[in-house]
This record gives sequence, C-alpha cells and structure tokens, in this order.
Amino acid sequence: MSIAPNAEEFLADFQTMSQFGATGNGGVDRQAASPADAEQRLWFRKLLESRGLDVRYDQIGNEWGLLEVVPGAPYVVVGSHMDSQPTAGKYDGAFGVLAAAHAAFRLQAEWEAGTRPDPTYNLAVVNWFNEEGSRFKPSMMGSSVFTGKLSLDEALKVSDVKGISVRSALDEHGFRSDWQGPKAAYCAEIHVEQGRSLERDDVTIGLVHSNWAANKYEFVVHGEQAHTGSALIEDRRDALLGASMLVVVAREIANSFPGVVHTSVGQLDVYPNSPVVVPSRVSLLLDLRSADETALAEADARLYRRVAEIEAEANVTVERKTAHTWPVMPYQPEGVQLSAKAAAGLGLSYKPVMTLAGHDSTNMKDLVKTVMLFVPSVEGLSHNEAEYTKDEDLISGVEMLTEVVARLSNGELDG
Ligand code: GLV
Ligand code: MN
Ligand code: MN
Repeated sequence: MSIAPNAEEFLADFQTMSQFGATGNGGVDRQAASPADAEQRLWFRKLLESRGLDVRYDQIGNEWGLLEVVPGAPYVVVGSHMDSQPTAGKYDGAFGVLAAAHAAFRLQAEWEAGTRPDPTYNLAVVNWFNEEGSRFKPSMMGSSVFTGKLSLDEALKVSDVKGISVRSALDEHGFRSDWQGPKAAYCAEIHVEQGRSLERDDVTIGLVHSNWAANKYEFVVHGEQAHTGSALIEDRRDALLGASMLVVVAREIANSFPGVVHTSVGQLDVYPNSPVVVPSRVSLLLDLRSADETALAEADARLYRRVAEIEAEANVTVERKTAHTWPVMPYQPEGVQLSAKAAAGLGLSYKPVMTLAGHDSTNMKDLVKTVMLFVPSVEGLSHNEAEYTKDEDLISGVEMLTEVVARLSNGELDG
C-alpha cells in the first residue's frame, strides 16, 4: 500500500500529542480535566481551528470540531477520547481522536478540490470527555450524557478523590457550555485493539461487530477500626480482610469460566490505611465481563453468594454503592459490511472482532448506526506505558477511517 501524502504529518502530530502528560517510560498520564488533559485539549483545539473547523464544548465537556459543508444537515460524528488512565499507553483513545481529525482534514481538502463527490452530511470530530473513568466514575461519561444514558446533573456532581467535582474541573478550563452537541446522523471510531487477535492473525483492520457485556460494581466493605496487635482475632471486623477475599473470589470466578469470563478488582481505597490499625472501611471496584450473557449472569450470582459468605467469614458488611453495566450489543451489521467493502477497496486485510473493552462508540451505536474499527496492538498490551502500535498500522487505520467516514458522509447507509 502506498503511504498517504499526509502520513508524515499525522505521525508528527501524534508525536506532539504524546508529549502532553508524558511519563518517563514512553507512556502518558492525562486523567480527565487534569492539567495535562487540559493542555492537550487546547493544543487540539488550535489544530482543528487552524484547518477552519469550528471548535465548541458541550454541556458535559465533550470537545467538538465541526465541519459544516451542507448547511443545516446532521453530522457524521467521528472521534474517541484523549484522557488516559494513570501511567497509561499513548495510543488508547488518542490515536482515534487524531485519526478522526486527519480524516476530516483530508475529506475537507478533497471535497473542496472536487476530487470526491459532495457529501450529504456534515462532519464532527469529537474528543469525548472522561472515557476512562479513572478520575471521575463512571467511565464513558461524555458519551453517556450525550446519548442520554446518564443524566447531566448526576454527571456534573461526581467528585474525584480530592472532592473536586466534574462541574468545577470542567469550568476551571472553560470546557463547558449549555450546548447539547450536534445532531448525529452516524458515528465512527477507530481504536487500538488492546488484545492480540489482529496481531496473531496478521490482519490490519478489525471490524467490531459486537461488544462484551460488563458489570462494574463499587463495593464498600465496612468493618471496625482496631489495634492490629492488641485486638483479639475473634473480635476483629477487618474491612481489608473482607476486601481481599473479594479480590480472590473475583479471580476464582474467572478461573471457573476459563476464557469466557474476565474479572478484576482495579482499585482499592483503604481507610485509615495506617500502620497498626485494622482498617474500618475499604472501597473497591470490581468488574466482571463476558461475551456470554448466561455465563455472566451465573458469575454474577456466584459473586453475590460469595459476598454473603464473606460477610459472615470476615465479620464485615459489604455495601454495593454503584453499578455500571452494559449488555452484549451488536454494532449494526450494515456498518460492518460497509467497512468490509472499504477495507477491500483499500487492499487492507480485515476480519470481524468483538471489543472486550468499553468504548464511546458502544454508547453511540444505541443512538445512530455506528462503525467501530481496530488496528493491531503489539502483544495486546494496554493500560500500560509499553502499549504499542506500529506506525504503518496507524497510517492504515487513518486511511481506513477516512474511507469509512467518506462513505457515511455520502449517505451510503441511508434508507
Ligand atoms: C471502558 O470504560 C472499559 O471499562 O472498558
Ligand atoms: Mn480507549
Ligand atoms: Mn482505556
């Protein structure tokens, strides 16, 4: 495949982007509305504006670059997220946002030059707010509010561990308005796979046809503070013991559904987290995921049976504070077919895949027909500073996204 004329420019922009919140080991730390995320958003704003896109922030801080070619028509929404987990990889989300911008620049130039037929729809590049959910829970916050799955008020009230709310974090940087965002006609997102299947099969483009289901729970284990030396063992109500049992139970459940159910505890907050003190309170985030909803329901039931047993065994109480769940849901098959045609036309290898991780497109596909694409991740590493995708795969991904967005903008899925 020939390298597109804007490949060098894309790679240079990607390198610039990766410097915002750069960590020592080649990764990034850009949690939502942090100084590094804000700096990067402002850089991205300037990039979009330098190409004549109209940049606006909506009511939940999604950053939009609007390219209105057909006055008054709805928009093909294309983008991903630029926030990251702490000490994360530089590709997760960021690749998809920059790919969306470059697809828009390219199409804009081709429409202006008349080398592509005029579109039916406008184009909106989006950088969704807080996809990761590491600083503010739940994840996929910007797209959840945009699609009406989460109320705006509820989202704005969420606070981080320091007590800073989403509302004030967004307002600090001027990232919020009363606007609800553009009217969407279709949506497309490209992302690194975060798994090994494309690399294993030596395939360049994954056509996502469905997502795994997820049940994410925030549990608070309540015990009683005591002296680690002097309190009698039989008197103890050790919240950390209960939480640790939950961590182990999560793995045991995954082990009993090998390859079918994935589980983990990703965060523990121990109070008072002090030497010589039996902890009185531990909150933790536990998630269970599967492509098989029957297995997930069984795993879920097993978890709750074990929670009751842990309460008795560790002499604690376990409160379920929040739940964020989504089912297995197909992406529209006509979008997958459109993408298969686009890949074939570009001479790129492709295959259907599922997404194990959540994405903003998993929200968007419930609102409008949505295409989700993957490019390979070396060794499947993700949420890790060593996350890596080869430049040639990034460039193929930009080509692919450009072609898909061109087809969506031309109304190929209308009717
Ligand atoms: C994304 O939010 C995920 O949990 O996969
Ligand atoms: Mn992501
Ligand atoms: Mn991520």
